[in-house]
Amino acid sequence: MRQLLYISTAAPGAGIDIGEILAISMRNNRREGVTGLLWTDAHRFLQVLEGPEEAVQGVLGRIKIDARHRGIVVLQDRTIAVREFGAWEMARRGPGDTADAFDGRMRQYLAGASPSVRGTFEGLIAARRAA
Ligand SMILES: Cc1cc2nc3c(=O)[nH]c(=O)nc-3n(C[C@H](O)[C@H](O)[C@H](O)COP(=O)(O)O)c2cc1C
Repeated sequence: MRQLLYISTAAPGAGIDIGEILAISMRNNRREGVTGLLWTDAHRFLQVLEGPEEAVQGVLGRIKIDARHRGIVVLQDRTIAVREFGAWEMARRGPGDTADAFDGRMRQYLAGASPSVRGTFEGLIAARRAA
C-alpha cells in the first residue's frame, strides 16, 4: 500500500468551495479504497492519501491538474503495510471551533499516524496559527 503526503497552496481567486471538494473526495476515495486526511485553512492544503498504489496514483493525478491549487510539493511518499487512517477525513477549523476543540479533533484523526506524518500536520498548524 502507498502513502503520500503533499502540501499545496490555494490558487488566488479560485473561489474554492471546500464542501464540494469534500463531497467529491469522499465519494471517489471511498469507491477507490483511498483513506487519509485533508487539512486546510482555506489558504494551504496538507493532505495524506493512502491506499492501493494505482488508486493513490489516480487520485494524485487528478489533484495535480486541479487549478484550484498550485505549488504542490510531495513531502513524503512511501510504502506502508497497514493503513494509518481508517477513513477519509477533512479537518478545517470552523468559525465556532475553539482552538482546543479543533486540536482535540486533530489528535483523534492523527492517533494512528506515524510520527513524521503527525509532526508535519502539527508543525504546519502551529506555523499557520502563529502567522
Ligand atoms: C486540495 C484538494 C484536495 C483534493 N482531494 C481529492 C481527493 O482526495 N480525492 C478526489 O477524488 N478528489 C480530490 N480533489 C478533487 C480533484 O482535484 C478532482 O476535482 C476530482 O477528483 C474530480 O472528480 P470527478 O472526476 O469524479 O469529477 C481535491 C482537490 C483539491 C483542490
